[in-house]
Amino acid sequence: MSVREIVKYPEKVLREKTGPVKDIDSALQNLIDDMIETMYAAPGVGLAANQVGVSKQITVIDVSLREENIPLIVLVNPEIVHLEGEIEAEEGCLSIPDYTTVLKRAMKVVVRGFDRHGKPVEIEAEGLLARALQHEIDHLNGKLFIDRMGRIKKEFFKKRYRREKLSKE
Ligand code: NI
Repeated sequence: MSVREIVKYPEKVLREKTGPVKDIDSALQNLIDDMIETMYAAPGVGLAANQVGVSKQITVIDVSLREENIPLIVLVNPEIVHLEGEIEAEEGCLSIPDYTTVLKRAMKVVVRGFDRHGKPVEIEAEGLLARALQHEIDHLNGKLFIDRMGRIKKEFFKKRYRREKLSKE
């Protein structure tokens, strides 16, 4: 297992829709182990495969530090099948360091996918887990949380964040 480098905004791979996983093999298991280790090392509550540069539909989520009794979740080829309600909460992303914003998302979700061994799973979630699932599945569709901000807020983000972060590169 090893910690991989997290791809940062505005890298192109974050903007590409990821492809479905077809083979449950040892390469996949290694990638998942590395993603888990990378998420914990960051530290973060979720990570999508394209955030380590692999354009595949895989995400790992662990919200147990903030919401107890929810185990580590590994999802392969996940899709949201139901969204319900609306709630605002603060949100950030490991690919956009040092920036958070309050964002409206669905309050509850139902997600279907597969676990790391290819077994079908269905997860019903609310609270932080529901938010994390929406955030990570957005990643897998090439979407970032800044895309869900209003136009003016996003313009402001682009100007400020780009000036501060990208001028250092
Ligand atoms: Ni993120």
